[in-house]
Amino acid sequence: MCGIVGYVGAGNAQDIILDGLSKLEYRGYDSAGISIIESGKMKTRKLSGRLGVLAGSLEKDPISGTIGMGHTRWATHGAPTDDNAHPHTNGKGTIAVIHNGIIENYRPIKDELLALGYKFKSETDTEVIAHLLDHYYEGDLLQAVFKTEARLRGAYALVVMCESSPDEIIAIRHESPIILGVGEGENFIASDIPAILKYTNKVVYIENKDIVRLTRSGYEIFGEDRKRIDRQVRTIEWDLESATKEGYEHFMLKEIYQQPSVISETINRRLDENGSLFLENIAIDEDTIKLINKIYVVGCGTAYHAGLVGRYLLQEFLKVDAQAEIASEFRYSDHYIDDKTLVVIVSQSGETMDTIGALKAAKAKGARILSITNVVGSSIARESDDIFYTWAGPEIAVASTKAYTTQLTAFYILALYFGKLKGTLEDKCYDEILAELKTLPGKVEASLPAFAEKAKAAAQEIKDSKSIFYLGRGLDYYTALEGALKLKEISYIHTEAFPAGELKHGTIALIEEGTPVIAVATQQSIYEKMVSNIKEVKARGAVVTGITRKRNTDLSEVADTVIYLEESFNIFMPLLSVVYPQLLAYYTSLAKGNDVDKPRNLAKSVTVE
Ligand code: M6R
Repeated sequence: MCGIVGYVGAGNAQDIILDGLSKLEYRGYDSAGISIIESGKMKTRKLSGRLGVLAGSLEKDPISGTIGMGHTRWATHGAPTDDNAHPHTNGKGTIAVIHNGIIENYRPIKDELLALGYKFKSETDTEVIAHLLDHYYEGDLLQAVFKTEARLRGAYALVVMCESSPDEIIAIRHESPIILGVGEGENFIASDIPAILKYTNKVVYIENKDIVRLTRSGYEIFGEDRKRIDRQVRTIEWDLESATKEGYEHFMLKEIYQQPSVISETINRRLDENGSLFLENIAIDEDTIKLINKIYVVGCGTAYHAGLVGRYLLQEFLKVDAQAEIASEFRYSDHYIDDKTLVVIVSQSGETMDTIGALKAAKAKGARILSITNVVGSSIARESDDIFYTWAGPEIAVASTKAYTTQLTAFYILALYFGKLKGTLEDKCYDEILAELKTLPGKVEASLPAFAEKAKAAAQEIKDSKSIFYLGRGLDYYTALEGALKLKEISYIHTEAFPAGELKHGTIALIEEGTPVIAVATQQSIYEKMVSNIKEVKARGAVVTGITRKRNTDLSEVADTVIYLEESFNIFMPLLSVVYPQLLAYYTSLAKGNDVDKPRNLAKSVTVE
């Protein structure tokens, strides 16, 4: 989604803002723009296309100044054109605004402003804000912002500047995330930390409904009641290096290869000196866990797929009814939820709008909220009763990989911990499963080189396919879903996942000579059934890649190619079996010449509904 960077200080605003925006490119965008106050005059430049287009224009004709803001836009209202790009300004170009999110009531406001004689240059919802500010401005920008903000409905992060106040930037957070970077004689506002990390590691997470005014010498935050309020300054522990490619061609490849170490980190941070599990930030005790009679696991996309596996584990280990739900569906459903319901929210970013909506809906009904997230201090973390941080480090590629495997790891740990606490998991099982969990990073590591070689070769075979199918049963079906999502989102090949037993109820009609089928067959109790399903698609011309455990050597008699996984318990197979599909998606996208890390139409952090 849109990227925001604002700067006020003594440095070159143009360079700092362009540099910050480049760190937010992973969020996905289609145009970029900048406003800087140069010698007392607001100058705005905005162009459709990549950031390089704007940077090229600014190189030829720079804007010099020490206060400014920039934006990368992911189109919602209006096509990605120069006019629709942000910043948007009032008619005189003296007040500028950038925005991430959606103003739901922009239509009636626009009608009102048109009636007052305001002229619009864009099709965006954002432009009404610039004109509203103009309407309310009487020499005090902060007061104009207060009045304007009171008129808006929807989700937004806004940053505002005014030519007549050349020392201040004002930002608003309303559902869409924004952070303040605190420097020496300079301050920053941004939609994410990598944008400012080169300049400061002191950060304030702006709370929902806060308004912040930043100047060269300091900042003030106003809470919902518009009274001044203090917010904690946090020190970011990770450095910019962890948000760079470190020699890998793409972030996605780096993140795939980081999986052994980040899975280890996720586990090791929960082991005490005796090698047993302990969980900080989780206050659920024996009495509470025994009272829980229903669990919902909620997320979007990849996080939802992790939730499917998590649901299975929680139900199995806690002997309680558990259901996985897509957040955008869950938030508007009428599930029976009360204070005996545990809702597990899964979100890498902790900022996904639908997931936040689901969390709030469940909380309002009295559920206890446990979130699994990768971002410390994110909106989801702040709204939750209990938090499990995945410690995957920043995930930059839009296609999620290490976030998924660390989310799975989180579920293994939570299910073990709660199972033991509740007494539904025997000590012997707990010990064996925990011991096996600790071996997983090594098993992923061992498989990477061979999987990469095989995926590279397979990518050449499938890159021109019209359709690809993933099949699986039980836990393998969840890997199939995640494998298909990975492949479709970055290769743009139509890819679907099906429960293998369901094929003959319709989908098998799509299988024709040469259709690639990837069959995940790791669950021993239903292995023979998978073999039969593979034979069914083979008989109709499919070219089958099987993914199975080392022991199932007979699969090579049925499938055209077999990817063998390290042996482990059934429950751990989702973590081991997803690595090859991740690499296959990566190499197929590469073979097609796509932008692997920033696939078309997608954004890393989905902060609109
Ligand atoms: O940040 P979140 O985990 O809440 O994001 C949820 C989805 O948008 C995300 O997992 C998406 O499906 C991935 N880009 C898929 O690779």
